[in-house]
Amino acid sequence: MGIVANGQKSVLQGEEHHDWEDNHVLQINRELARAYFIPYGECKGDRMLSLNGEWRFRWTKTPDERIRSFYRVDYDDAHWARLAVPANWEVNGYGTPIYVSAGYPFKIDPPYVTREPKKDWTTYEERNPTGQYRRTFFVPDGWVAITPDGKPSGTVAGNGQTFLRFEGVMSAFYVWVNGHRVGYSQGSMEPSEFNVTPYIKKGENQIAIEVYKYSDGSYLEDQDFWRFGGIHRDVLLYHTPDVRIRDVAVRASMDGVLQINPQFSVYNGETGDGYHLVATLMDGSSIVCCDSVATDEVLDLAHKAARMNEWFPQRGHRKFARMEMHVNHPRLWSVEYPNLYTLLMELKAPDGRTVECVTQQVGFRTIAIKGGQLLINGQPIKIRGVNRHEHDPYTARVMTEERMLQDLRLMKEANINAVRLAHYPNCPRWYELCDSMGMYVMDEADCETHGLRGTLASTPDWGDAFLDRAIRMAERDKNHPSIIFWSLGNESGYGPNQAAMSAWLHEFDPTRPVHYEGAQGDPDPSTVDVISRFYPRVMEEYLNPGIPEGSDKERAENARWERLLEIANRTEDRCTWIGSDGGPRPVLTSEYAHSMGNALGNFKEYWDEINSHPRMLGGFIWDWVDQGIIRDGNVLYGGDFGDKPNLHAFCMNGIVLSDRTLTPKYYEVQAIYGGLSEQEIANKYRETSAAKPKPLKTKAAANSSFFTLHSSLKPQVYRAPTDNDKSFGNWLAKDWKRSGLDTLTIPMTMEQNGNELTFTFDIPDSLPPLPRLGILIELPREYEQLTWYGRGPWDNYPDRKVSCPIGLWKSTVSQQYVHYPRPQDSGNHEDCTYVELRTKKGKRLCIEAVDEPFSFSVLPYSAQYLASKTHDYELVDEGPNTRNSEAKTYLSIDCAVMGLGNSSCGPGVLKRYTIDPSKCHQLKIRISGDSLERISQP
Ligand code: GAL
Repeated sequence: MGIVANGQKSVLQGEEHHDWEDNHVLQINRELARAYFIPYGECKGDRMLSLNGEWRFRWTKTPDERIRSFYRVDYDDAHWARLAVPANWEVNGYGTPIYVSAGYPFKIDPPYVTREPKKDWTTYEERNPTGQYRRTFFVPDGWVAITPDGKPSGTVAGNGQTFLRFEGVMSAFYVWVNGHRVGYSQGSMEPSEFNVTPYIKKGENQIAIEVYKYSDGSYLEDQDFWRFGGIHRDVLLYHTPDVRIRDVAVRASMDGVLQINPQFSVYNGETGDGYHLVATLMDGSSIVCCDSVATDEVLDLAHKAARMNEWFPQRGHRKFARMEMHVNHPRLWSVEYPNLYTLLMELKAPDGRTVECVTQQVGFRTIAIKGGQLLINGQPIKIRGVNRHEHDPYTARVMTEERMLQDLRLMKEANINAVRLAHYPNCPRWYELCDSMGMYVMDEADCETHGLRGTLASTPDWGDAFLDRAIRMAERDKNHPSIIFWSLGNESGYGPNQAAMSAWLHEFDPTRPVHYEGAQGDPDPSTVDVISRFYPRVMEEYLNPGIPEGSDKERAENARWERLLEIANRTEDRCTWIGSDGGPRPVLTSEYAHSMGNALGNFKEYWDEINSHPRMLGGFIWDWVDQGIIRDGNVLYGGDFGDKPNLHAFCMNGIVLSDRTLTPKYYEVQAIYGGLSEQEIANKYRETSAAKPKPLKTKAAANSSFFTLHSSLKPQVYRAPTDNDKSFGNWLAKDWKRSGLDTLTIPMTMEQNGNELTFTFDIPDSLPPLPRLGILIELPREYEQLTWYGRGPWDNYPDRKVSCPIGLWKSTVSQQYVHYPRPQDSGNHEDCTYVELRTKKGKRLCIEAVDEPFSFSVLPYSAQYLASKTHDYELVDEGPNTRNSEAKTYLSIDCAVMGLGNSSCGPGVLKRYTIDPSKCHQLKIRISGDSLERISQP
């Protein structure tokens, strides 16, 4: 292609121009963005027609294979397949889901997306999957006038307007109604509306949509997630009068001031004269207050100077409130008390008839930044947050009401108070639920150019495309009390295009601060109102393998992460946001505690630091839910579909599994976000615990069964690497492999005194940091029933045990393993003094601590077996009833275990949670086949 002087690309002569490969064509005939509402007449939904449901569908790997005439009314689609709207293609048999983290799935050549990629890439064949959709619909009575001359009926005065609304289509699409091309839009996560009045007719109507998986817009959608295509959110039609409420913006502050800024549109020669809007604030069914405004005052079709001077003066800011009401002592909105009022807006015709109604939920609350803290209603808050992708293991990006409710309930139960919509505006219902259930929201623009780093941020040619996404997000979501930050997007470098987004948002909405993690510098640019960092370190010493003791150098894997508290201690920073006191900006970690697999090490230490400094605002865990795709009951991840390029399991970072099964990580979050003490947690589990947690006193047991065990007992220093052990640089797992840790027997001496055994370990200098140190006992698989005294009920590690009080717990071996999508170590229990395994036939093995407590895990899999598998569905546990004598129960008793850390994307393990190689480690236990009854209470 040609490059013209200003750096823009021109299309080669003769090459077909594509709107979807032109970053200057963001839309054709799309309506202005507006707040989310569906207007109605007498009751909600009475002027709306959902187009969700079954459509005729045709999918091709490339646009060239599409049927160009498919939109014609007389096109015969009888042989086409059927597909639901909303639905993503790739989970319905059309095309390949591709999991790309950073980088694009197509050949990079902006704005083009169909240049030839590497031959083994999925997009070599599936160059730009294209879906064509067709269906018919009947417009409801009254939407279309009877026109005897057959004129397009919508143009008849007094008949009103009909709009077609798409809540989300990936990534670009055209729409035709009754064979007429209506328009085009791009941007996967923002709504698009078209006025279809001129094209609809009475009776049966036909609609055709052509969707392109990739477009120039995809350059701004390089989030770390699966690449799906299709219509993934609702499609609907709604009808309005010729004078209509086009938009409404609401601001409600803690002092009870309610400001309303409505916008109207008129059609078919209407002027809106004599119409007025009545706004009534309702608290349940009682009226709180009321105000009205004449539509022509707002419309100002004649551009009267006086009116413009008042509302849009020659100099200085525009005025916002067309209506203003005062509520005495409003019940404020907060996450703890999400009090909402209903604002009813009725558009009245000159004869007093109500011609259209709109409602919005209103929450009175004020956001401010003072003294480096974020205040909601004057009170400093901490963000106990999670990042959340819209992901469902069966429906991909299609979010059902049940799934959203489930997510929010689970979040509330885990004491999570904030969610970052990583990294795009969510489906509109999500915000309504956050408003009503009480959840702070960071709303983030659909703008990530990871694979191009910051190049587009500094390319003026892309300015409109960036701004379009900020404007459409803020216009749609502006009325939600739950939103307490606007975010400019994610991982797109920093340049004038983000500065423009920030300036636009600040001016458009002075009531909310702006966030963007990419805005960094010394100091961070003033375009952001909070300092934000990813995956920081706490102010402690980390494990530094390979770096000599005492050296001030650090392993690169750790050193790349900043220290948040250090930033909070800098004094020169200033906040310029109008809602601030001009003091320093709060310091936030917008991503931390990367929860890939068995993770969430030293979460407590993060919070000790966050609580230690007023400027520390808190953080958003990465992230809420594993992004697995479940097929035939199996959880699949990147590469499992033959997708290329891909980043394997790096999309599986949730504190809940893909199907929302809770993990031990979830409970740790619940405990720490809830600020619960160990006693409070113990009380909470009292009912579920097998017995009340009381210290046990053990008595020497006779009849040692040690001798029968002897042959199956050996030293063990290996664990199946967790995702953190593997990490970015594969630093620990690689070292372990190199040293042959998985098969290694390290020097161990054993002293026996009756049935009391003392193991002493000598860690050779040559070994890398060890994941565990202790013994392994292999038992027949029939040992299934488990009782222990120590930390439970779920697994815990030295740096993740706050949620696990010491107590007497019961479980089974089968239940001990946590089924992460990629097999790895799990099931450890810290601070144990007793463990007992039983068979159905009553055979028992008991291990008691002598002096020091031990750690143990008991799994139906060996560490080596777990390490050799890549997917959970490959694991075979034959269960306790198996006749296979090879099947084993693997009991590990350790005198020391390494913590989990965060290094799948973040710093490693804190030094204090690692095994000190210079120390002499001893494991002192008593082994017996005796029963639990022999252990007496004090
Ligand atoms: C961050 C990014 C997230 C995700 C995470 C790793 O850098 O913002 O989208 O990729 O890393 O899981």
